[in-house]
Amino acid sequence: MNDELRQRVILALQRGEDLPSDWARELFPPEKREYELVYHGKKREEDIIAGTMAVPLQTERTFGKNGIDWHNMLIFGDNLQAMKTLLEQKRMGKLCNADGTPGIRLVYIDPPFATRQEFRGSQDQKAYQDKLAGAAFVEFIRERLVLLRELLASDGSIFVHMDQRKIHYIKVLLDEIFGEQNFRNEIVLPGRASKNLQQQFETVSRLNIRHDTLLWYSKSANTRFSPLWIEKHNAGNPEGHWHHFWSTADRPTMRYPLLGHTPETGQWTWKMDRAETAVANYKRFRRESGGRTLVEYWQDTGCCLDFIRPDPADGKPQYWRAPAEERLADTVWAGVPVYDNQTKYPTEKNEALLKQSISLASVVGDLVLDAFAGSGTTCAVAEKLGRRWVGIDCGKLAIYTIQKRMLNLKTDIGNKGKALKPQPFTLYNAGLYDFSKLKQLPWLDWRFFCLQLFGCKEEPHTIGGLQLDGKLKGASVLVFNHHEKPGVGIDEETVRSIHAAIGKKIGRKFYIIAPRGVFGFQQDYIDLDGVRYYAMRVPYSIINELHQREFTALKQPDDEMAVNDTVDSVGFDFIQPPKVKWTPGVNARKGQLIKEAFLKIDKFESRARLRGEDTHGGIETFSMLMLDFDYNGDVFDLDAVFYNHQMEAAGWEARFSAESLGNNVMAVFIDIHGNEARELIPLAQFGLQPSKPVAKKTKAKLSHAT
Ligand SMILES: C[S@@+](CC[C@H](N)C(=O)[O-])C[C@H]1O[C@@H](n2cnc3c(N)ncnc32)[C@H](O)[C@@H]1O
Repeated sequence: MNDELRQRVILALQRGEDLPSDWARELFPPEKREYELVYHGKKREEDIIAGTMAVPLQTERTFGKNGIDWHNMLIFGDNLQAMKTLLEQKRMGKLCNADGTPGIRLVYIDPPFATRQEFRGSQDQKAYQDKLAGAAFVEFIRERLVLLRELLASDGSIFVHMDQRKIHYIKVLLDEIFGEQNFRNEIVLPGRASKNLQQQFETVSRLNIRHDTLLWYSKSANTRFSPLWIEKHNAGNPEGHWHHFWSTADRPTMRYPLLGHTPETGQWTWKMDRAETAVANYKRFRRESGGRTLVEYWQDTGCCLDFIRPDPADGKPQYWRAPAEERLADTVWAGVPVYDNQTKYPTEKNEALLKQSISLASVVGDLVLDAFAGSGTTCAVAEKLGRRWVGIDCGKLAIYTIQKRMLNLKTDIGNKGKALKPQPFTLYNAGLYDFSKLKQLPWLDWRFFCLQLFGCKEEPHTIGGLQLDGKLKGASVLVFNHHEKPGVGIDEETVRSIHAAIGKKIGRKFYIIAPRGVFGFQQDYIDLDGVRYYAMRVPYSIINELHQREFTALKQPDDEMAVNDTVDSVGFDFIQPPKVKWTPGVNARKGQLIKEAFLKIDKFESRARLRGEDTHGGIETFSMLMLDFDYNGDVFDLDAVFYNHQMEAAGWEARFSAESLGNNVMAVFIDIHGNEARELIPLAQFGLQPSKPVAKKTKAKLSHAT
């Protein structure tokens, strides 16, 4: 950067002005790379990080009593923005592993594999469109990968699950983002091809696809790794049983305490001096080889069966003997099922796959993140393996599926065994807020939320005796305390008196944040003698010049195929429940033993505020209906889902067995922007009577309409 530009930057920053975007290249010159993937719309990494807004997390509900230093997190919202918020938490030391290290130890993501539009045909024009869709998809993933890298702890690692359509582009991006030297493995996951994929390819002449791929990268050379051992005779057999030895419960006899401790198992085979030499060698090896893996140590030292590994509990070196009938797992995970259908969530992955990945590169207490959580397989397995977890998804169906899953956990993989009470977890909204709840926040929480919402730094300061709360790009921010001054408004006169008091001491911008109803004027800002006073309203009216990217709304699916679509939503909004008119009833069909109940939508009206404009929509803005057949008055426990398209085909009726209904049915109608209308429907309104005092319900498996 030349001297003149340096001076101009300093001046602009001192005045609290925005830096022109054409200075970006000068301020952040692009790195020189040997090779890179080039496509339309590829942003600079710095712009991705700086240009993503952090959206505050609004607590929706906590399940269990929150821990002192940590509770697990389930976040509803676009993952890019939510991750920016998590990044701030990491910087503040709030996103930590149990050992105190900040950042995520292990990321597993299973994003939507590619957009549907891409596989419609091969004519020229379509192919061109495909490329655009492809580039947009690749950039969508890249933006998230950049944030994920920032979130990782320095010894953390990431698993990316994909199929053959986009994996090679993503591999190149991962090399760029994490460095080729941090590429660990490409793991082949043999199995059935997914149903959707088969349909997309069935008209094309090529081989049937029978595997997915996992790419494993670490953030640095120093990563956690626990070798996996599999039974030799079962290798490659899809029915084979895989072991790993991080879980002490699996094979207690295989664990050897070191250095003077009496072995619990009676299988202590090393004398003290040999154990001490091994530990010393191991430590030296780690030091000298820049933290190469244990397997490399094992290979280098030629100890065929005996080697040292970190204790899963505390990371200290521990001697461990590999059993003769087993061998180190390789990159073809033939024995591990990939897909599952327990929750009925489309594209649900198998718990065994997650157990394998999580065990490979994390230990008890480590923080595991899945930013495309879906049905919550990662969260469930992390919980079972004693890890901390964070799950993010922008679909309401995913969130309710995960909530149900976490509250009905069983100890074993595949959800068998004894009931497992999860550690406390909190459900947050990130980007779509409930204003009625926000208003009730105590002053300090409200103040913090508002500052975060508008991307301001919390920085209390005083100018001319006026107590101010934060800074936005160098300019002062005042959060109006509506609790302290109920009924007091901010009109043009108020702004003038602020100007008279401090106008000469502030830069060219000043921000006032307050509940929308407090402002007594309509305009976004008032200019007085060259100072611009912004009115930042909650709920929000968008001031485009303050944001780097235009706001785009969340999108909820309206049929099952769309559940796995990519969603790229920017900004935030406030919940506006749709208005729904509905009729419950029973279809009496002759000769039918089990009565069929129905819930019919007579009218649906959504009321979203998109890009600052209030919009109204009809039934086309209806996404799905979720039902809890036996609502317990507390937690919505998802039993069935009916998508827009399926209900339309059935004359806007959701039909279900009357037998499964309890005293009260809870219906949640969701619009395509994620707003909910909740309706409690007593059984009598269906024209049904409780047959007996309702016992604790035996939960039907989650059923999805077809
Ligand atoms: C393939 S599914 C994940 C399935 C999951 N692994 C499981 O075992 O159930 C992908 C998920 O990504 C979510 N998704 C898509 N775009 C997203 C975004 N921008 N932010 C958060 N989640 C997103 C979808 O809602 C969907 O649930």
